[in-house]
Amino acid sequence: MSKIIAVTGATGSQGGGVVNVMKKTPGWKVRAITRNLESDASKKLAAEGVEVVQASFDDEASLVKAFEGVNAVFAVTNWWEHLFSGKSQDEAGVIEEEHGMKLARAAAQTPTLEHYIWSTTPSAKRDFNGEHVTPHMDYKANVDERIQKELPELAAKTTYLYLGYYPQNMAFFPFLRPIEYPQNGQYIQMVPTKADAKILLSGDMTVNPGIWVRQSIASAPHSFGKYANVALEKWTFQQMVDVWSEITGKKCIFVECSMEVYKALWGLAGYELGLQFKYGELCDPWEEKENHITPEALGIDANEVVGFRGTIEGLKHLF
Ligand SMILES: NC(=O)c1ccc[n+]([C@@H]2O[C@H](COP(=O)([O-])OP(=O)(O)OC[C@H]3O[C@@H](n4cnc5c(N)ncnc54)[C@H](OP(=O)(O)O)[C@@H]3O)[C@@H](O)[C@H]2O)c1
Repeated sequence: MSKIIAVTGATGSQGGGVVNVMKKTPGWKVRAITRNLESDASKKLAAEGVEVVQASFDDEASLVKAFEGVNAVFAVTNWWEHLFSGKSQDEAGVIEEEHGMKLARAAAQTPTLEHYIWSTTPSAKRDFNGEHVTPHMDYKANVDERIQKELPELAAKTTYLYLGYYPQNMAFFPFLRPIEYPQNGQYIQMVPTKADAKILLSGDMTVNPGIWVRQSIASAPHSFGKYANVALEKWTFQQMVDVWSEITGKKCIFVECSMEVYKALWGLAGYELGLQFKYGELCDPWEEKENHITPEALGIDANEVVGFRGTIEGLKHLF
């Protein structure tokens, strides 16, 4: 009989990438979790033969029910949705942390659970003793610590995935999409960070999160209690615009701006992104430490992973 993985965020980027891989993984079936069974994305999953179940991160009991009988859970929360609905950066974080803990507690109450996979990020607040913060990362990392403190049995079967910057941001995130400069045919990407600042790149979100989830499960128990970077690349912003230019045939110039300019352009969301990029200038947030498991130890096949270049090639028609 097949094992079941409950995939939260299944109608979105990360969870969607997990569904795409796990539905083709022998011995596994996917249970996609959504708030809305009637959305186009939910209906598409159901039409592909995926079991789709309604539950909300606001409602722990709904998650307990949705996780009934599952062997694994992929859990991801969405800080940005709360910011875009008018909450402050910290209010959005408090909701995200509550959601993360409801997911974790629901998983801890699932007797059949063998593996919990939590999508998280490093914390600037922790790394810089509160002197630099990035709320959309800090509150996710709070959940890691609380799983370890409050739910030790769950922690013993948890793998923590660090998702990096999505190349898809250059197509779908308005702040990061290169824009055409009037009348000279060139493009600019204006971001509040240095051109030579490096960032972890998760590559193609439609497959890579699923590869890491599948391999985390396949390499258990070695992956239990470990962190893994869902990425094989750490690139500079200059490298990204150079490769984007080469692939699209449109010359893009990287322009560093101040946090104040970016905030004036994009409001709190822009300011928050700037905080993340500043964190990446101050240190390497994704440095592989002793609590990390390497791609090699997970058995990741580099030929299967789609990196920045392959992702932008696939999206070329959108630029
Ligand atoms: N963009 C980047 O470069 C990047 C990099 C690393 C990490 N991240 C992090 O990625 C996270 C978002 O993940 P994503 O990009 O996959 O998001 P996404 O594409 O916007 O999708 C969000 C998913 O979460 C589900 N969801 C949201 N609130 C829910 C709730 N209350 N109950 C049940 N399901 C809920 C949605 O399901 P339904 O709408 O179907 O209910 C949807 O499937 C953010 O926290 C962000 O900080 C982003």
